[in-house]
Amino acid sequence: MTTQNTPTPDTNTSHSTSGALPSRRSVVTVTGASALAAGLTAATVAPATAFSPATAPSAVPAAAPPGTDPRSYTTVARAIAVYDEHDESLVPAYLRAVENGLPASRAKSTKRVLIVGAGPAGLLAADLLNRAGHDVVVIEANGNRVGGRIKTFRKGGHENGEQPFADPLQYAEGGAMRLPESHPLLMALIERFDLPRQEFYLVDVDVDDPTKKANRTWIHVNGTHMRRADYERNPAPINDTFGVRGPNRTKTAATILAEALEPARRLVRGKEGTALVEGWVEILKKYGHWSMYRYLTEVARLDTRTIDLVGTIQNLTSRLHLSFMHSFLSSALIDPSTRFWELKGGTGILADALYAPVKGKVRLDRRAVRVDHGDGKVRVHTVSEGFQNGEGGVTEVFEGDEAIITVPFSGLRHVTFDPPLTYGKRRAITELHYDAATKVLLEFSRRWWEMTEAEWKEALDSIEAGLYEKYRSGGVGHGEYLGAHRSVKDLGVTIPDDLKECFAVFRPPGRGSEPEASHVRGGGTVSDNANRFMYFEHAHPLEGSDGGIMLASYSWADDALKWDAFADEERYLRALAGVQAVFGRRCEVFFTNKCKTQSWMRDHYAYGEASVLSPGQHTELFPDVPTSEGALHFAGCHTSIKPAWIEGALESAVRTALKVHAG
Ligand code: FAD
Ligand code: ARG
Repeated sequence: MTTQNTPTPDTNTSHSTSGALPSRRSVVTVTGASALAAGLTAATVAPATAFSPATAPSAVPAAAPPGTDPRSYTTVARAIAVYDEHDESLVPAYLRAVENGLPASRAKSTKRVLIVGAGPAGLLAADLLNRAGHDVVVIEANGNRVGGRIKTFRKGGHENGEQPFADPLQYAEGGAMRLPESHPLLMALIERFDLPRQEFYLVDVDVDDPTKKANRTWIHVNGTHMRRADYERNPAPINDTFGVRGPNRTKTAATILAEALEPARRLVRGKEGTALVEGWVEILKKYGHWSMYRYLTEVARLDTRTIDLVGTIQNLTSRLHLSFMHSFLSSALIDPSTRFWELKGGTGILADALYAPVKGKVRLDRRAVRVDHGDGKVRVHTVSEGFQNGEGGVTEVFEGDEAIITVPFSGLRHVTFDPPLTYGKRRAITELHYDAATKVLLEFSRRWWEMTEAEWKEALDSIEAGLYEKYRSGGVGHGEYLGAHRSVKDLGVTIPDDLKECFAVFRPPGRGSEPEASHVRGGGTVSDNANRFMYFEHAHPLEGSDGGIMLASYSWADDALKWDAFADEERYLRALAGVQAVFGRRCEVFFTNKCKTQSWMRDHYAYGEASVLSPGQHTELFPDVPTSEGALHFAGCHTSIKPAWIEGALESAVRTALKVHAG
């Protein structure tokens, strides 16, 4: 019989219960407003226990309220700041490693290192250790590509995959698309590989002068349709549709959210070193166990209608029940003031560049299913994709001195460890919340979103005299013009009649007129229909192509799950109809029906978008996530406080590579 590790006093059981914050479970069941309505305050909501005493395994102490070990606050605060135990930034040393490799003097011996997962974390760790003279093998489940949640739909690249779109020049992102300039390791890596980059326009720019922000994309909610710039000038017409009253009626959703977050922001603004760590500790103590909904209700004192407004426009609704910390941290980044880059050729060229130096070390089509460790060696048992396809799989066992495991914890749930991992790690693997995210990418033979009314007239009348006016007056009742423009045929596409007929059912009803030409480049549109967020990524003209791919729907959490029920092909016409509801029906003439979609929750290799934590999980679970267990080290963006960002994966790669190298 194997003995399972029990929680040690300094993981999550050592604190006194008096005055303890409520656990995430009690917050989830009796949240914010309902707790108040029931006459409960934070201090009186009874903490739940990890196991009910009746069912608790005897090895696990009963009735221990989780997550209030004072040390865990500091651990998490330092992880947010990327600081060491002396409150000094780890980033300069990490940058040196990315730029120049691991420190030469620290290598004591050559190690055989198994790296599980060939996403950015695994590939960078492999490259660093390989360059430092270690003997690495990267074990990757996917049979035909590396890069993980970096996934560019493209022709070429290391995948050499089939052409995804009708236009061979086109490419689009199923995963990572925007690269924040404030992410130093990522920027250094792009520099080191000399990858071509161009600005990613979170806010759209003037079509004729890309140096000018235009803010002409749409807000389309509750039946109203307004340019973002107009909303900024006068928020009331849209705010009224939500029933927002009082001073917030005339403020934008972004301003209301910024003001709401101010009590937390001011605790860390302008601080560094120990003061910054203390600021984060205070935020974690006050709000670490809270959902964003509870914060907006109890601290910002926003009413339901205002939360509806902010949630809809600022993309919070589907995550209101999740950790305040997560949305608080991401709202500071996904903001018009952040400068983002994108890679020319797609984010996949970063995966290509990371892959090239270690290609000979990567074993594709080897899914780790069991890890034996504890006898001075690590053995990773793998099966090939054949297992998944019901065709029987090749099995192979890899042996090393140490291993870096980068598999998301949602996937590690299906990997057994012998002997079992520590109590804290097992809880984290079991409980860490993974969010859903789904993208639907539609191809058009023209970038119609850049066109003026005059250009629309020319294009539509070239299909049939008077078609421009017919669309404008709402006179095109069916889907007969789907893909009707010559440019679609020039790409070799003919839309079958039965698809047109079927599409007519999804098509939004005419409103008696078409919205005016968007005439935008880049930027994001928000709608309250199922598509939710729509982006014109890779907004720079592609030489030799007039077409473009629209990220017609980018949704998270519950919004995403509502797409996931549909098979891939079923999503395209629905997404097109959602686009038409916002941009008008005439864009259908450029539709090529060569589309792509990516559900990360249904992905065989990612098992979710990222670890977007539930209230309380930062302090209750995170401290046990990145810790090494003997010869096993844990990397991947979930082991940083930047889940869903490449930077987090890179931080974890350097952290674990340094550790293996130094040990
Ligand atoms: P992954 O990239 O997931 O790599 C893990 C690897 O492990 C994969 O190759 C997988 O196949 C492999 N694997 C899984 N299970 C096993 C197993 N059992 N055995 C062997 N191998 C296994 N980041 C940004 O910086 N900017 C963005 O704009 C951005 N947008 C995003 C949008 C979406 C929709 C998503 C999903 C992610 C986005 N990200 C973005 C996040 C970024 O893609 C991830 O943070 C990053 O890819 C994580 O790297 P990783 O190596 O930790 O994990
Ligand atoms: N990095 C991803 C993006 O840029 C996701 C950010 C946060 N994701 C989330 N579900 N909260 O879109």
